[in-house]
Amino acid sequence: MSFSIIGTGSGFPERVVTNDDLAQLLDTSDEWIRPRTGIRERRVATKETVLDLALAAARNALDSSGIGPEELDCILCATLRGDYFTPSLACLLQGALGADCPAFDINGACSGFLYALDVADCYFARGKAQKIMVVAAEMMSKLVDWKDRSTCVLFGDGAGAVVLGPGNDLLSIKVTAKGGAELLRAPNVHGNSPFDETEELPCVVYMNGQEVYKFAVSSMQRDVQEVVQQAGLTLEDVNYILPHQANIRIIDAAAHKLKMPRERILTNIDRHGNTSGAGIPALLDECARAGTFHRGDILVMSSFGSGLTTGACVLRWSGAGKEQKE
Ligand code: UT7
Repeated sequence: MSFSIIGTGSGFPERVVTNDDLAQLLDTSDEWIRPRTGIRERRVATKETVLDLALAAARNALDSSGIGPEELDCILCATLRGDYFTPSLACLLQGALGADCPAFDINGACSGFLYALDVADCYFARGKAQKIMVVAAEMMSKLVDWKDRSTCVLFGDGAGAVVLGPGNDLLSIKVTAKGGAELLRAPNVHGNSPFDETEELPCVVYMNGQEVYKFAVSSMQRDVQEVVQQAGLTLEDVNYILPHQANIRIIDAAAHKLKMPRERILTNIDRHGNTSGAGIPALLDECARAGTFHRGDILVMSSFGSGLTTGACVLRWSGAGKEQKE
């Protein structure tokens, strides 16, 4: 026994920041950003907290699943940084929803949602849960260096959520890690210990874009092929791929290597940029609500990110929410 997705949701800050808005702040332009990344605009938090975004996504997902918070047996939040070191974002969300279940955070960076699905799968396999909420919520605007044009233009804020119930729609899943901070990192706060002799590092994102790009294309190709094979399927059986929304050129290159028709690769990076782990569940919610999926469709999710981590899975869509097609 594994799980089925019975509800989806998403939540974004109100403020839209376009490439032209960024050009007012930095030496950049829509002409540079759009062709290199596919990003036109992103949402950036002004008054919202990470919890606000997570709560909006969670409430939408509960609403589409038709269950109440009291029915949840576990809440998993995938996040790089909640509003507090402690309590975890998941505990704050549990309290705000009025749920009564264990709750904890998972830091798998951009692959965090896939890591959380993998953990949820284990809960269902052991019969430890009947309903699990997985929320990925990120506020990258508080992690990037707004003076570094090579990274800050890429990211956005947002949250995506799913409610899971027992079922057999997860056909395969894999997560990987290749540990190291060389290519992509955001150091933690230094604190003010009078005994600390370690070097204080800036608490902002550093990324070696070109190396991460190469890792991303090759790992997506490898992971998608592996999970599809593990599920006993071929790429022709796949209706849609939901890739990590990091860069349209990475997505196009991976699609090309997989010989996957471009219309079967779903994206919303043009409107949201890279929202780290929140990107895939928010895209899933958008497509579910738009009626993109039909019952029985085979979906593949594939992500990569800091760690370096990757995650991928194959899911059968059996119709979360009210808006799907037969
Ligand atoms: O979820 C995390 C995963 N991260 C990723 O997936 C990122 C993967 N990497 C990428 O997507 C690409 O490497 C980037 C979009 C980050 C960068 O694209 P690139 O084609 O690799 O550009 P580059 O870093 O080689 O920079 C080319 C030029 C440089 O100028 P010079 O040295 O050639 O004069 C940069 O200074 O573009 C300059 N540049 C910019 N110019 C205007 C870098 N950022 C900007 C900018 N606006 N925002």
